[in-house]
Amino acid sequence: MNLSSLIRSFTVPLLPPPHSIVPSRIDGAENGIAIECSNLNYSIASGQRKMLPILRDCSFSVPSGQLWMLLGPNGCGKSTLLKILAGLLKPTKGSLHVKRPRSFVFQNPDHQVVMPTVEADVAFGLGKLNLTHDEVRSKVANALDAVGMSEYLQRPVQTLSGGQKQRVAIAGALAEACKVLLLDELTTFLDESDQFGVIKAVKNSLGDSGEVTALWVTHRLEELEYADGAFYMEDGKIVMQGDGASILNFIKTRQISYIDRINR
Ligand SMILES: Nc1ncnc2c1ncn2[C@@H]1O[C@H](COP(=O)(O)OP(=O)(O)OP(=O)(O)O)[C@@H](O)[C@H]1O
Ligand SMILES: [Mg+2]
Repeated sequence: MNLSSLIRSFTVPLLPPPHSIVPSRIDGAENGIAIECSNLNYSIASGQRKMLPILRDCSFSVPSGQLWMLLGPNGCGKSTLLKILAGLLKPTKGSLHVKRPRSFVFQNPDHQVVMPTVEADVAFGLGKLNLTHDEVRSKVANALDAVGMSEYLQRPVQTLSGGQKQRVAIAGALAEACKVLLLDELTTFLDESDQFGVIKAVKNSLGDSGEVTALWVTHRLEELEYADGAFYMEDGKIVMQGDGASILNFIKTRQISYIDRINR
């Protein structure tokens, strides 16, 4: 069973459609933009009728067919923002549009890939589509090919490494023609070879068609070289956006001034 399929099947449809979640709908997604948000805010009740702001006026867009990364210190709001984009949380204020279908891939691969074999796991979400056996096989084969896991078709999932499980989870989303991949710190618990295997799988999934777009949350600065663009968040706000190299410089400058302040 693929949890991202489950979430889309059961959680997302329970929410109202996007135009009723938020005050206004953005149509940029039809113009080469896969994700577009304007002044997104998210607050939670913190007792005594007070609201605690988690996201503050986040505005950004991600072009179709690109891999963008989202970075920032612990607790700055990255996962919350990703969950809003996935439709798992409802913004308090602001507007957004995310191309559909969209899929949220979680950090822990053991929560994600739980069918007995790779083939069964990738095919799981296709059950609802009324496809022939050959169509299912072809979609599973194409998705596994995109993430470089074709030769693992009959493998029991418990024999896979963490990175291979992540790639199977991504294949599950691709098999269902997912347009937007929302990926939350997939590489945190992976060793270096699995880490780059997963990034390359995501890059390869985007292909040349411009159909699939990915937003990748990470703490690992070395991953920025694979990004088409990136955002840096602090305290619920997007404080910088640019290409991977500019974001890397920005973060390094921030770290140096922080260390200077501590030393002083
Ligand atoms: N349900 C909740 N109740 C109370 N606080 C919450 C809740 N959900 C999120 N928060 C708070 O919102 C802030 C943002 O959390 P979030 O998980 O989005 O951060 P993050 O940037 O993903 O952090 P990390 O890098 O550690 O994963 C944190 O301070 C967190 O404690
Ligand atoms: Mg997080």
